Amino acid sequence: MSGSAITPWVIGNWKMNPVQAEAQQLVSEFKTLLEQQAIDAAQCHLGVAPVAIALGSVQEQLKTAVRPVYTVAQDVSRIAGLGAYTGEVSAELLKDSQIGFVLVGHSERREIFAENVQILNAKIQNALAAGLTVIYCVGESLQQRESGQAEQVVLQQICDIAAVVEAEQWQNIVIAYEPIWAIGTGKTASPEDAQAMHAKIREGLTQLTSYGPQMAILYGGSVKPENAVELAACPDINGALVGGASLNAASFHQIAQAFANTQ
Ligand code: PGA
Repeated sequence: MSGSAITPWVIGNWKMNPVQAEAQQLVSEFKTLLEQQAIDAAQCHLGVAPVAIALGSVQEQLKTAVRPVYTVAQDVSRIAGLGAYTGEVSAELLKDSQIGFVLVGHSERREIFAENVQILNAKIQNALAAGLTVIYCVGESLQQRESGQAEQVVLQQICDIAAVVEAEQWQNIVIAYEPIWAIGTGKTASPEDAQAMHAKIREGLTQLTSYGPQMAILYGGSVKPENAVELAACPDINGALVGGASLNAASFHQIAQAFANTQ
């Protein structure tokens, strides 16, 4: 199936950046760009994932954007509901604050914060049960790629979540393929390599769920305006999860345009 039938998503992952004043400036510049050069909402979903303490203020600022731009949480607790869990933010609390999207499985969470399958699955289960859409990140390390294991590792990461995703919940999952060696390094997978992996992911998803052919599979890892057009042209690349380049309003807008233009 051609990826062009799937509305692309471009999501900015701000990670632990920037300070409040700069975040406000960034959103304000992005809103102005959207006014000057429209990106039709039907051609591309847009989202930004600020730090937890900025979710509310960014969401408020985005309410007056000319088109929907979703506010995305970077993380969610593995504990559901409310209770004595110091430091945690549950899926229910995100939902209560009208945050409808969350990243789960980012390699920085897997590696730096030792999030294993059990933890990630608890997060996904809670998020889906609360009605959130999960952007589930997968990707192989350089060593895994060089030893020919990339495909197996990534497909295993996809299969891992099948234990907790109920049949109808697959429509609330977006996949982000982010080869770890391409994140923040300036190295991008070639469009051919990225497309090949995305096609494998699509095959794997289609074996797990009837929603597989229509699920969005985003690419992430040093996406910038210079490589976005080529990546966007690949049939199974349905958008981008953008780190560094999303901290610049003009770059983020250009990347979004590249994907919107495929529609
Ligand atoms: P990058 O990050 O665009 O800075 O490589 C992508 C990500 O980690 O989501």
